[in-house]
Amino acid sequence: MKSNEFNQQAVSIRLAQCAKSFANGTRALQPLDLAIHPGETLVLLGPSGCGKTTTLRMIAGLEFPDQGGRVFFGDEDVTALPIEKRGVGMVFQNYALFPNMSVGENIAYGMKIRGIPAGERIERVERLLEMVHLQGLSQRRVDQLSGGQKQRVALARALAMEPRVLLLDEPLTALDAKLREAVRSDLNKLLRSLGITAIYVTHDQGEAMALGDRIVVMERGKISQIGTPQEIYYHPANDFVADFIGAMNRVEGIVAGNRLQLPTGSLPLADNGRNEVVQGQPAWALFRPEDVQVIDITEADAHCVRGRLINTFFLGDRTRFEIEIGVERAVIAETSKRGWWEAGQQIAIRVLPEALVKMAPRTDKEAA
Ligand SMILES: Nc1ncnc2c1ncn2[C@@H]1O[C@H](COP(=O)(O)OP(=O)(O)OP(=O)(O)O)[C@@H](O)[C@H]1O
Ligand SMILES: [Mg+2]
Repeated sequence: MKSNEFNQQAVSIRLAQCAKSFANGTRALQPLDLAIHPGETLVLLGPSGCGKTTTLRMIAGLEFPDQGGRVFFGDEDVTALPIEKRGVGMVFQNYALFPNMSVGENIAYGMKIRGIPAGERIERVERLLEMVHLQGLSQRRVDQLSGGQKQRVALARALAMEPRVLLLDEPLTALDAKLREAVRSDLNKLLRSLGITAIYVTHDQGEAMALGDRIVVMERGKISQIGTPQEIYYHPANDFVADFIGAMNRVEGIVAGNRLQLPTGSLPLADNGRNEVVQGQPAWALFRPEDVQVIDITEADAHCVRGRLINTFFLGDRTRFEIEIGVERAVIAETSKRGWWEAGQQIAIRVLPEALVKMAPRTDKEAA
């Protein structure tokens, strides 16, 4: 089995039939089964109110599942154990540091309570500061730190007790975009090198993709899909996941031979074995904006779809185009190519068969 930075064996976590209702009658979680591998970083991702924090707090021992739910760390049933007996470290969105203490005192606080001798405390604080790239700041008051530095102190403090499990609830939300990316990258390296079992809550899909070994997509108190970032992105299990993760184009046509016929051209059928479509019947094609090739109308051929550019957005590293192709929704294309077309212009698009995420039959009800 994997052992982590603290020379512990990384622990697995299992939730069995964990539902959660609150006193006011809110059913925050439907009965949930979830197995977290030792040493993995699992991301809980989903829209506001879907139950991410509640799930995390149940793992922490800050909430308890409804009757019948069980929480296991390895083989140990921890369902009835409070947070201080579970060996978890937590990091919150708002840091929750002691403002009147120095960086070092904040990190050492828990160790002091536990009676760890001063010499060892100082040594551990130094090692943790190095780990989170804050060497030399031990004496600094925390109210004299930047947001990113505070978040690193919070992380060091959570790790100081050598937890079996690290729990993070939207820890980067308070940071600005640039800093977020920097701290995210450090956190990613740190989580890999620690080898500790970690659960990370976010509603930011970019963060989820960057940090998660696996992602759990949640919707209204239920698990919608569990998988690696690639599985979730390229093979969304349902419409909710397809639309929540990244942007997704969805166009409707009629299946004709090995193509999907649209009013102004055709798309190839997907070649990933996921075609459940029927010849001559209506079907949906799902594909990502970055997989749409935008082509000058003068170069359009029989395998293109023709349309009219209705909007362009220059985003710096790429440009987003909205293209009207005579179906209900406009197609979104994103490209880093330095071509430029003006709104109102005729244009063509092409999508390769391997880039089609899914094709699905369009029911009579939808078609009506
Ligand atoms: N203590 C509580 N009492 C009553 N209802 C609660 C309590 N805590 C959470 N809820 C409700 O449970 C549901 C899930 O809340 P939770 O905090 O787990 O969502 P979340 O996914 O973390 O959302 P966010 O992204 O906004 O943080 C919500 O409907 C919320 O209003
Ligand atoms: Mg939350």
